[in-house]
Amino acid sequence: MRERFVVEGLNGQKKLQGEIAVRGAKNAVLKILPATVLFADEVELQNVPHIEDVDRMRELLEGLKTNQTILRKDIAERFRASIVLTGPVLARYGAVEFPFPGGCVLGERAIDLFLNGFKAMGASVVEDDSYFKITANGKLKGAHIIFPLVSVTATETLMMAAVLAEGETIIENAAMEPEIGYLAEFLNSCGAQISGMNTPVLRIQGGELLRAEGKPFVVPPDRIETGSFAILAALAGKDVTITNCDPSWLNVPLSLLAQAGVLVETTQNTIRIRGASEYRMVPVRTHEYPGFPTDLQAPMAVFMSQCAGEGSILETIFDGRFRYVDDLVVMGADMTVMNPHRILIRGPKKLTRKNLESPDLRGGLAYLLAATVAEGTSTIDNAYLIDRGYERIEERLSKLGLSIKRETSQ
Ligand code: EPZ
Repeated sequence: MRERFVVEGLNGQKKLQGEIAVRGAKNAVLKILPATVLFADEVELQNVPHIEDVDRMRELLEGLKTNQTILRKDIAERFRASIVLTGPVLARYGAVEFPFPGGCVLGERAIDLFLNGFKAMGASVVEDDSYFKITANGKLKGAHIIFPLVSVTATETLMMAAVLAEGETIIENAAMEPEIGYLAEFLNSCGAQISGMNTPVLRIQGGELLRAEGKPFVVPPDRIETGSFAILAALAGKDVTITNCDPSWLNVPLSLLAQAGVLVETTQNTIRIRGASEYRMVPVRTHEYPGFPTDLQAPMAVFMSQCAGEGSILETIFDGRFRYVDDLVVMGADMTVMNPHRILIRGPKKLTRKNLESPDLRGGLAYLLAATVAEGTSTIDNAYLIDRGYERIEERLSKLGLSIKRETSQ
């Protein structure tokens, strides 16, 4: 049953106020769940968000109980994070079968770094029509892996595989997203030997199965949800405080919002945002952490549509992450896609309502922001895509004073 959101636009008024608490990070919990395969005992997770992708990952783990080395094709091809499971499963059970992973269509999302990493660790790979069978030929062996580009999930997947491999694994040009270091610290507290966290070179000494021994993994606050709410508050907030968050993980986006004229005040775990009547345009260039996160690119484009002047977004990570632009232009935004990596934006431009359909998770959130700013009542179809990464979003935004509701769309 498809669902959609219905949003009464504020027509540029800044009326939202109150507090909104950030939930556990999707892109952290979707990695600790696969990591539980590395453990001899149970791992308790706390602060788990109630989002669709967590349910999908749990279904995959459930499926492993009937067949230790096969990822359920119908589930794995629905989200990208399913591929993270291949590392722990291959390392522990010596084999893994899986389909090419699904998830947001953001352009080419190859998996060569995963396959080449597994081969470097002694595994053999057989591909047949986008279905992969990998065997470890005994235990995986530590290897010196040099990534030609930075990949978040490839870093996490091979880091986890290396935990049970024989000998030392070095991963060069590793991603440094804070969720990766956070996970590695937890694995180390359970017996892993990972060093180099938050640097481009990870070293992992392989060993035995890990043990949590009752120590819980507390899912850290969602960095992208925090940034999404900060941009919403900048666009439509009178006085909004975001709680249960870690502002230090968002220095670049928050500094750009402040540079544009947003009133931003942070404490260790809160961000207070007060909207201003006018904003100056700011340039955005997405980049691996600690740069501007690509997952905030679409929400930031909506913000920039309300800034005075001309500016561009340079998307350096994905080559197909502008699918949301056309409908924003129909709503009144002045945006030009110059090439697959660059958008030119002129503002401020008034937005008017539209019936929209989420193109992907973060594009869907951007549509919620545009609908909030616009005049009139908008709908955002395919609510599932937003539910993949934001828990009960309509209930939480309603508490800030936004008129948003969920209804069946067909
Ligand atoms: C993770 O995706 C996140 N997803 C994405 O968030 C995020 O946008 C992305 O990292 C970048 O920060 C999860 O963690 C589940 P990449 P991931 O591998 O790991 C290329 C969201 O909205 N590449 O860092 O898939 C790839 O095509 C999602 O929460 C290869 O060429 O991203 C891309 O251009 C969207 N070969 C670039 O690397 C490979 O083997 C970076 O992608 C792997 C990646």
